[in-house]
Amino acid sequence: MESFRALLIEEREGKVCSGFVRLQESQLDAGDVTIRVAYSSVNYKDALAATGKGKIIRRFPCVGGIDLAGTVVASSDARFSPGDPVIATSFDIGVAHHGGYAEMARVPGDWVVPLPAGLSLFEAMALGTAGFTAALGIVRMEENGLRPEKGPVIVTGATGGVGSLAIDMLAQRGYHVVALTGKESEADYLRGLGAAEVMLRQHLDLSKIRPLDRGRWAGAVDNLGGDVLAWIASTMEQGGTIASIGLAASMSLNTTVAPFILRGVSLLGVDSGYIREPYRRGVWQRLASDLRPPHLAAMTRRIAFDQLPETFAEYIAGQAKGRVVVDVAGS
Ligand SMILES: NC(=O)c1ccc[n+]([C@@H]2O[C@H](COP(=O)([O-])OP(=O)(O)OC[C@H]3O[C@@H](n4cnc5c(N)ncnc54)[C@H](OP(=O)(O)O)[C@@H]3O)[C@@H](O)[C@H]2O)c1
Repeated sequence: MESFRALLIEEREGKVCSGFVRLQESQLDAGDVTIRVAYSSVNYKDALAATGKGKIIRRFPCVGGIDLAGTVVASSDARFSPGDPVIATSFDIGVAHHGGYAEMARVPGDWVVPLPAGLSLFEAMALGTAGFTAALGIVRMEENGLRPEKGPVIVTGATGGVGSLAIDMLAQRGYHVVALTGKESEADYLRGLGAAEVMLRQHLDLSKIRPLDRGRWAGAVDNLGGDVLAWIASTMEQGGTIASIGLAASMSLNTTVAPFILRGVSLLGVDSGYIREPYRRGVWQRLASDLRPPHLAAMTRRIAFDQLPETFAEYIAGQAKGRVVVDVAGS
């Protein structure tokens, strides 16, 4: 490919901006595996990065897109050969190394995962970092003893990518899932994914969170942080497990140690970015098998490469729903 299209994020006079450019293959970052990108996806982090609403980019200029799936065109890593379908997510992709919003990508072999049997490249990006992270959270909570018979699991930021996928995967595994959302109009969508109950964030009184309140949850997948996470900690059942995944509401956490030392609650940090092999491939294998979300197609929408800027705005406004796959090759 002589030159290819990319969404480049730059810093000009202290301001972050992004736009479509044409790059040469020689402008790609160093790496062992060169990939013709078929699809990428949109995560909250991508929207923060491209709009400059969050300090995400660690090296300017940088092609955005923390997720990519495509076909190997060249590889100096013996694990990959031309023609192999692969996924690359996490590490520095789209934040300090040119990412998936480009028709071509080149990345270190350690960042590449073979496409698991049973998943298409499109499905891999419908899952993307959001699906990988939701699955990682569930795997880690179950390693910590969470089981469906232990009680309900609450999922916050429920209509978002991580939230929708976590609900779908947990419900399919037999959990009683309670979806916490700010979007009253999406209750049917959440029930359709398998949520047994839908709670509205607006109905919570977060002005007075007690150190310990009535225990309600055996597990929690938290995408919001801040007061919602503090309230969850205070309402966990004895021995409950929280997977702290996101900060869509706040980076802060103002809580007490009471849930941890009086109820034995575990607060598990989930970081999809730097988790290494064999964990990484193992989670992707499970996404193609026992953790495969049954409603993946129903929660996913495909956009053209050109539609990225308007899609970022939806994410920044907290209006994201489900997953968005970017048709990079189709542009
Ligand atoms: N730890 C990791 O490795 C990792 C990996 C992936 C993502 N994340 C983080 O996980 C979070 C979710 O990611 P995502 O890609 O699923 O994002 P997303 O698709 O944008 O979903 C976030 C959801 O959170 C809720 N929300 C958004 N803004 C909010 C606000 N100001 N206050 C309260 N609720 C708000 C909304 O759901 P409702 O209206 O339904 O509440 C929204 O749909 C993000 O913070 C992201 O950075 C972390």
